[in-house]
Amino acid sequence: MPLTRKAYRAAILHSLADPAEVGIEASYEYFEDGLLVIENGRISALGHAGDLLARLPADIDITHYQDALITPGLIDTHIHLPQTGMVGAYGEQLLDWLNTYTFPCESQFADKAHAEEVADVFIKELLRNGTTTALVFGSVHPQSVNAFFEAAEKLDLRMIAGKVMMDRNAPDYLTDTAESSYQQSKALIERWHGKGRLHYAVTPRFAPTSTPEQLALAGQLLGEYPDLYMQTHISENKQEIEWVKALFPERDGYLDVYDHYKLLGERSVFAHGVHLCDEECARLAETGSAVAFCPTSNLFLGSGLFNLPMAEKHKLNVGLGTDVGGGTSFSLLQTLNEAYKVMQLQGARLSPFKSLYLATLGGARALRLEDRIGTLQPGTDADFIVLDYNATPLLSYRLKQANNIAETLFVLMTLGDDRTVLQTYAAGNRVHQR
Ligand code: GUN
Ligand code: ZN
Repeated sequence: MPLTRKAYRAAILHSLADPAEVGIEASYEYFEDGLLVIENGRISALGHAGDLLARLPADIDITHYQDALITPGLIDTHIHLPQTGMVGAYGEQLLDWLNTYTFPCESQFADKAHAEEVADVFIKELLRNGTTTALVFGSVHPQSVNAFFEAAEKLDLRMIAGKVMMDRNAPDYLTDTAESSYQQSKALIERWHGKGRLHYAVTPRFAPTSTPEQLALAGQLLGEYPDLYMQTHISENKQEIEWVKALFPERDGYLDVYDHYKLLGERSVFAHGVHLCDEECARLAETGSAVAFCPTSNLFLGSGLFNLPMAEKHKLNVGLGTDVGGGTSFSLLQTLNEAYKVMQLQGARLSPFKSLYLATLGGARALRLEDRIGTLQPGTDADFIVLDYNATPLLSYRLKQANNIAETLFVLMTLGDDRTVLQTYAAGNRVHQR
């Protein structure tokens, strides 16, 4: 294969570590006039343009952006493909919202053509918003995952997804059985897990919609293949938590249900965790599990305020999730805007560099992919985005008053959305142009 080498010149910013662990100043690297060099889908160099240009061939292909910031592609650690068509459904909290809106909407994925149409819209929406990796819930139908992976494979995206396992407490038209869910998941794993940049996630929806037999088979699958992911929901809503206690009286709380069925581990991501207690955070951290913080969803569904400082105290891995369609935006910038307010309501701060970390390296760590994505370190995948300081008149005017990169970053995360994402690159290819 001929060597393809390209360089991108702009302001460049990426996370190096969690500010909660190393302090803000040591947590990031910023080049006011930076250069990012890409070779065959990987980053080969990053540095000050002045230094690097002197060492590169004079005829190298350089794209120079004025008034723009390059960052790593954003990472969404919790989102639902089949809820694309129901974002912003009025009036209910979690359990009634599922029955009234979610289950009927997901039932449409019985139709393969519908699944393919939505997968196309969904992936375009991720890329328009600068999201280059997502951990995705399909519907109960295997074709939802096939449609998603087929579309992601064409663009060589790094994506993780799984078919929902759900064998009780949902309408008949949307349930599988413990055995069929095991067989269907297995067939999807065989077809997709480890193909290109795709990975499979075993996906029991949440404890109330799985029998003990189904949860046991989910745990069994995790033991049968290396590096599989597991995704589910936990402790999002108080009524939900009481329901889990009633359904599993023999277990010592919600997390213990998943623990009993061997669903905790280094590639396990639990969405929400709004009402987790100290002991549960400690157990999640001890097993290397991660939590997806989903602020727009937690506000929209009235679920509550995620306690990020408690997660930090336990050194629990936390990623950021849009949770579309419980969440109200595909934009991780808008999700960070709400995350800041969730912290304000708890008397805490969310620094812009912690926000950057959550949306990039923190997500990569939650997914155990930090050696591939989440930073712009040489050797990693060339998944990056270009943010436009002049995306809207207000953003442009406001950023002219910003004095440093901290302020610029915070304003981008407060006023920014899909309009701010000028271009998105995956494996070195441009996959979105505004
Ligand atoms: N808990 C179980 N299923 C769901 C879902 O689809 N969305 C959210 N937000 N929570 C859930
Ligand atoms: Zn969810």
